[in-house]
Amino acid sequence: MEQITVFTVGAACRRPALIFKSFMAKEFKRYLITSALPYANGPVHIGHLAGVYVPSDIYTRYLRLRGRDVISVCGSDEHGVPITIKARKEGVSPQVIVDRYHEIIKESFRRLGISFDIYSRTSSPTHYRTASDFFRKLYDEGKFIERTSMQYYDEEAQTFLADRYIVGTCPRCGNERAYGDQCEQCGSTLSPDELIDPHSAVSGSVPVKRETKHWYLPLDRYEPFLREWILEGHKEWKSNVYGQCKSWLDLGLQPRAVSRDLDWGIPVPVEGAEGKVLYVWFDAPIGYISATKDLTPDWEKYWKSEDTKMVHFIGKDNIVFHCIVFPSMLKAHGGYILPENVPANEFLNLEGDKISTSRNWAVWLHEYLDDFPGKEDVLRYVLCANAPETKDNDFTWKDFQARNNNELVAVLGNFVNRALVLTKKYFGGRVPACGAMTDYDRATVAELQGIRSELEGNIENFRFREALKDAMNFARIGNKYLADTEPWKVVKSDPARVETILNIALQITANVAVAIEPFMPFSSEKILRMLAIERPTWDDLGSMSVIAAGHEIGEPQLLFEKIEDDVIERQLAKLAAAKAANAAAEAASHVAEQKEEVSFDDFSKMDIRISTIVAAEKVAKTKKLLKLTVDTGIDRRTIVSGIAEYFKPEELVGRQVPVLVNLAPRELKGIRSEGMILMAEDAVRGLVMMRPEEKVTDGSQVG
Ligand code: MF3
Ligand code: ZN
Repeated sequence: MEQITVFTVGAACRRPALIFKSFMAKEFKRYLITSALPYANGPVHIGHLAGVYVPSDIYTRYLRLRGRDVISVCGSDEHGVPITIKARKEGVSPQVIVDRYHEIIKESFRRLGISFDIYSRTSSPTHYRTASDFFRKLYDEGKFIERTSMQYYDEEAQTFLADRYIVGTCPRCGNERAYGDQCEQCGSTLSPDELIDPHSAVSGSVPVKRETKHWYLPLDRYEPFLREWILEGHKEWKSNVYGQCKSWLDLGLQPRAVSRDLDWGIPVPVEGAEGKVLYVWFDAPIGYISATKDLTPDWEKYWKSEDTKMVHFIGKDNIVFHCIVFPSMLKAHGGYILPENVPANEFLNLEGDKISTSRNWAVWLHEYLDDFPGKEDVLRYVLCANAPETKDNDFTWKDFQARNNNELVAVLGNFVNRALVLTKKYFGGRVPACGAMTDYDRATVAELQGIRSELEGNIENFRFREALKDAMNFARIGNKYLADTEPWKVVKSDPARVETILNIALQITANVAVAIEPFMPFSSEKILRMLAIERPTWDDLGSMSVIAAGHEIGEPQLLFEKIEDDVIERQLAKLAAAKAANAAAEAASHVAEQKEEVSFDDFSKMDIRISTIVAAEKVAKTKKLLKLTVDTGIDRRTIVSGIAEYFKPEELVGRQVPVLVNLAPRELKGIRSEGMILMAEDAVRGLVMMRPEEKVTDGSQVG
């Protein structure tokens, strides 16, 4: 077993490299790679991929290529409140929801080449048993504390209400549809007690408070262990992860409830716990263990042996659960190893906006796969090149197109194609022999060998963006080699030299296939097929004898094709449609109910005239009022209007507006107001001015 080199810390971790000079690499016999279990309440999108699944797959494929003993486990997270909410909305059982999305997610991962050794699910019998036993052991050993607290209860539906199930008015922004845990309008984190006028989302009734008992994991007891293990022992973790752990620990940990009053989940396996289930964040990480059990009877060697290196791939919202809560659970249980690293990523945005499942602001993996058949690697490439490793990042379709056209087509595809086509052309597809190498040839080979160790260091330290650049550099160097040696010219004067050039170019092509495999497995496979060779090993990287002279290569095909503007425009139009649908839904949800019926006579009593605003000024000492002078066609008169927050006086002058002219006059701030300007009241934008489409005579009646 080779030793894993730990490189001194680079950009990803901005602490002085010195500290780690003494940090000696530990040798591990095997690897256990976990990827956050996605919630089975919706499909997977590019944010999930860039944050978690593409990096974890790169790492796993790399280790496999190196011949390491590695398993990669994942599965669907099928419990939790959002799943029950979705089910209720659709009028189906939660099982229907998780069955649907489990299949969609599993299949789309497979199509993208995410090579889990197992994709399991937390509704599996193995998981129920494993999670129950885990809880039971901690319970029996007195590792939990029991507490009663007051929780909201819906008497009509006879059920306790999760925070998400309580809706009311947000105390911060006035949104009337804020949830008991969060207001989606202003983004505030809330507790149900803060909501104004709370009511149950299940029955609409006003909830009462009722006493309920739950089990808590006293995280405070694990604080010394966590401090030592993370803050002292894992200074090499990414700075975003280390920093978050440190601030949690510095704030002081509190006991955390590990059970919930809910009818969806794994029943709490103790007496007197009817109607209670394990909290989803208690059972889900145990899913990694259950998945391993479902994969291999040898699961204990991965989970219970100190020479296994466990790595959790997650997004930043999962840091506390994987670095604080789950390790405390494992510690409390005993017998399990802890993660060696938790390379959490930041978030990926889409076209400048936060990705959102509920607002449909996302690029869904299953849709991408349908829209871009054969372009799985393009997405993998772009998401890795843009991975939010150290800060949030943005995915844009323009960047997707540019990276495909300028990098994949122009560099990688172009090099491979030239090497193969020239071999066909000059040597009928037989690999020519390598003759005497020039200094330039040797320098090129040395350069490739140098990149190899850099590539290894970057992958092993979770710097996948840099690693991808290294892998692409094999193709870049190959491209440059052909451009510099110009075999198409030399062939006339020195055909023997061309044999050497193309031999080297083909060796580099085989190298490229190895170097890009973790990132772009489909293209790697294609190159090998075109070269008609078996997959070389990682140790062949940098070697110039991967392919034997005389070997016959296969048919050259294009690896990548240019993506045209219209393709990108279609994707942008899809997003624009999602945005428009959201705006419409948002506005519709705020539309006031229809008023009581009125007779035609009542209606015709109103005298509405198009009038021109001829002067406007603020009413002194008020915020909202403007004093307007309008020409109604009948006369000039004064109207006081509460619109100062929406319009500046100068932008009103000269505009035509409808005015209710026979409204009984009233006095406002000592000014007599004779009429009312009519405006549209948009729930989202506020007051919006109305005007006739064409200029009309002042005094024209509206009716
Ligand atoms: N379902 C969670 C999420 O999407 C992740 C669960 S990770 C596990 O945020 F460790 F709990 F499984
Ligand atoms: Zn709010």
